[in-house]
Amino acid sequence: MTGTVSDTWRLDHPWAHVYSFGMGHPALARTAGVVGFGTSFDGLYDAIDSLAHVPAGGTVLDVPCGSGIALRGVDPAAGLRYLACDISPAMLRRTRRAAERRGIAIETLEGDVADLPLEDRSVDLTLSLTGLHCFPDPGAAVREIARVTADRIELTWLRSDAGLRYRPILVAGRAGGLVGPSATVLEVTGWLRAAGFVSYAVTEGAFAYLSARRP
Ligand SMILES: C[S@@+](CC[C@H](N)C(=O)[O-])C[C@H]1O[C@@H](n2cnc3c(N)ncnc32)[C@H](O)[C@@H]1O
Repeated sequence: MTGTVSDTWRLDHPWAHVYSFGMGHPALARTAGVVGFGTSFDGLYDAIDSLAHVPAGGTVLDVPCGSGIALRGVDPAAGLRYLACDISPAMLRRTRRAAERRGIAIETLEGDVADLPLEDRSVDLTLSLTGLHCFPDPGAAVREIARVTADRIELTWLRSDAGLRYRPILVAGRAGGLVGPSATVLEVTGWLRAAGFVSYAVTEGAFAYLSARRP
C-alpha cells in the first residue's frame, strides 16, 4: 500500500537530496543527529557494520535503500546477494551509483515495502534504516519484512513515542508529507513477536534502534 508519504518520497522531494548527502557523510549526520534528534546514529552505523556477520553467500535485503548508505558495510568479496529496494526511482539510481563506486554487485527492486516480490524467509538479514516513519502503514511494512526474513532484522526509525521534546519534528515532517504515522517501540516489538521474532530495542533521543531474530 502506498499513501501520501510514500508518494512524496517517490517523486524525489528536495529533502531526499539533502538527506542523502547528509547520511553519506557520517560526521555530518552524527552532528545533525545529536543537535536535531538527540542521537548520534551510532545504532544505525552499528546495524550497517553488522553486515559483516552475514555468512558468505547470504542474502541481504536493504529496504528502503535510499541512496545506498548501507553499502559501506558490504565487503565486495563476501559474495552476498544484495537486494536494494525502494519506492523511489531516483533513490535507486543513487544506490546503483554507490554500488558501482564500491565495486559491489547488487540487484535493485523498485517497489513497496508492504508488498515485496520475494519468497517467504528468502532473506538472511533485512535492514530497514530510517524507514518505518516514512511509510504510510508501518505495521504492514514490519509484517512483510518479517515474512521474507529467515534470520535477522535491523530497524531504525523516528519513533512516535519520543515525547513532547521531539513532537515538533514529527508534526513538521507530517506537514511536509515526509513522515507518516510512525510507531512506538511497543507496537513494533508486538508486530515482530506476532511474526515469530524476538526483539531487542534501544532508544536514543527521537530514534529507536531494534534488532530482531527468529528464536
Ligand atoms: C529517510 S529515507 C531512508 C533511506 C536509507 N535507508 C537511509 O538510511 O539513508 C526513507 C526512504 O524510504 C523510501 N520509501 C518511502 N516509502 C516507501 C515504501 N512504501 N516502500 C519502499 N520505500 C519507501 C523513500 O523513497 C526513501 O528512500
